[in-house]
Amino acid sequence: MFSDTKALQTSDLYKLLIGSVLPRPIAWVGSKNNQGIANLAPYSFFTVASINPPVIAISVANKDDGSNKDSLNNIIDSQCFSVSMVSHKNAKAMSVTADLFDADVNEFEMAGLTEIACSKINSVRCAEAKVSFECVLNEVKSYGEHAGAGNLVLADVVAIHVDDEIIDDFKIDTNKFDAIGRLAGANYTTTRDSFLIE
Ligand SMILES: Cc1cc2nc3c(=O)[nH]c(=O)nc-3n(C[C@H](O)[C@H](O)[C@H](O)COP(=O)(O)O)c2cc1C
Repeated sequence: MFSDTKALQTSDLYKLLIGSVLPRPIAWVGSKNNQGIANLAPYSFFTVASINPPVIAISVANKDDGSNKDSLNNIIDSQCFSVSMVSHKNAKAMSVTADLFDADVNEFEMAGLTEIACSKINSVRCAEAKVSFECVLNEVKSYGEHAGAGNLVLADVVAIHVDDEIIDDFKIDTNKFDAIGRLAGANYTTTRDSFLIE
């Protein structure tokens, strides 16, 4: 199959992109709105953009009506957010936080998770996560105001929390971390089936 992307609808572009670019790590984005209400939502368009300075990238798509998702509004308003990583034992709770809740609903409470104050930024992170980053907004590159257009968020990582149980000399034990990734739709993968290339 060959596709000229200009001829494709958003839904088909989405299927091709998420079915091809996988597995994707999941940034569990913690933020606070202007009223101080905490928000938590997963974003798998996520990667490391720079090591030193440490910069991460996530992309937040516009909603079907073209408006911003709550995380993006909070990131722009507060200029900061956290990214917690998702281990297998938190997979179900993570999926609960993806539901379209109103902006005044605290997803930590909806998913039975514990919000904890960040150390260097005025935001919140997920206490159940084994790894969390504290991030300060660097820039947002928007690709349009229509449904499906992405908003690429680049952010400086100002602090990193790692559970002492999974780290030794800055090396994270990936088995103990037990991170998951997103495939397409409701399918996910673990990091348990690794192999070595010699
Ligand atoms: C595993 C997973 C990954 C997701 N990744 C993204 C993503 O990269 N970009 C995006 O716009 N939405 C993504 N979503 C959908 C958002 O999580 C969803 O729209 C959520 O309601 C947004 O919440 P918010 O409005 O509180 O930010 C993902 C959902 C799941 C379950």
